[in-house]
Amino acid sequence: MRLLVINGPNINMLGIREKNIYGTETYEGLISFIKGVCEKNDIEVEFFQSNHEGAIVDRIQEAYGKKDAIVINPAAYTHTSVAILDALKAVSIPACEVHLSNIYEREEFRHHSYISAACEKTFYGKGFAGYEEAILYLKSFLES
Ligand code: DQA
Repeated sequence: MRLLVINGPNINMLGIREKNIYGTETYEGLISFIKGVCEKNDIEVEFFQSNHEGAIVDRIQEAYGKKDAIVINPAAYTHTSVAILDALKAVSIPACEVHLSNIYEREEFRHHSYISAACEKTFYGKGFAGYEEAILYLKSFLES
């Protein structure tokens, strides 16, 4: 499985930003956690993080024909971006959405995701473990 993991705005600030919500682990820590999961499961993984909506749309489009699965934490764009939704729909690559925090127990504006409509499943409120669950879900989804 050729997997692309996309993280949106401010995920590069993990370990610095709102530690009470996102914890003390860094973005680099997240990357090595995911690399470990992928090594164990024989998955080829590539990472992309951007604070820019258009850059995320470009990266999703580039994945067309080259990646088998996408795990995406669109961060704040979850709640605003029809463009990222449309990009995921356009490439039709099986995708899962991940949120470190439980967006449904936070401010009301975080309760709605534009991105869910293009995803097989959403994992939220489980920290790094949500990425592992999403990856394993996509692996068995593709094998079934
Ligand atoms: C987030 C939740 C979003 O509401 C927020 O804007 C983020 C991170 C999460 O991982 O919990 O930046 O996607």
